[in-house]
Amino acid sequence: MERTYIMLKPDSVKRRLVGRIISRIEDKGLNITAMKMFKLDEKILKEHYSHIADQPFFPEIVKFMTSGPVIGMIVEGPSAVQQMRNIIGATRCLDADAGSIRGDFAFTNGENLIHGSDTVENAEIEIKRFFGKI
Ligand SMILES: Nc1ncnc2c1ncn2[C@@H]1O[C@H](COP(=O)(O)OP(=O)(O)OP(=O)(O)O)[C@@H](O)[C@H]1O
Ligand SMILES: [Mg+2]
Repeated sequence: MERTYIMLKPDSVKRRLVGRIISRIEDKGLNITAMKMFKLDEKILKEHYSHIADQPFFPEIVKFMTSGPVIGMIVEGPSAVQQMRNIIGATRCLDADAGSIRGDFAFTNGENLIHGSDTVENAEIEIKRFFGKI
């Protein structure tokens, strides 16, 4: 079964949207098979976001992503990676469709509530990064 790495960002926790976001994942018919709350540090963020680490906005991302706890999850189901990307919505808040998590709840490009792996290969790398061998 395909699986993906999902992470509820600090704004989801601060804005008390965790329950509503998890409901959307369950409503879609996907299964949450692992979940934990923890804090990120700059080192792991540089790995996880290596593709944007040289962007001018990266220090802001580090500040935001270390500002409070996140909730990491493994989500499983047919085409779980793409299904979750669809539920999450586009990166830029203005491009995120109404009905998606970011479309309905996010109003900046940085604080966009939730991360989802972008490929099956990256999903496995990220699951290993955050959950170890599972
Ligand atoms: N132009 C931007 N301005 C501010 N923040 C940005 C911008 N582009 C990306 N980001 C931040 O960097 C994160 C990672 O960017 P990426 O291109 O991987 O988008 P994504 O795959 O939609 O998001 P994520 O990896 O968090 O699921 C985004 O979620 C967002 O928080
Ligand atoms: Mg990404």
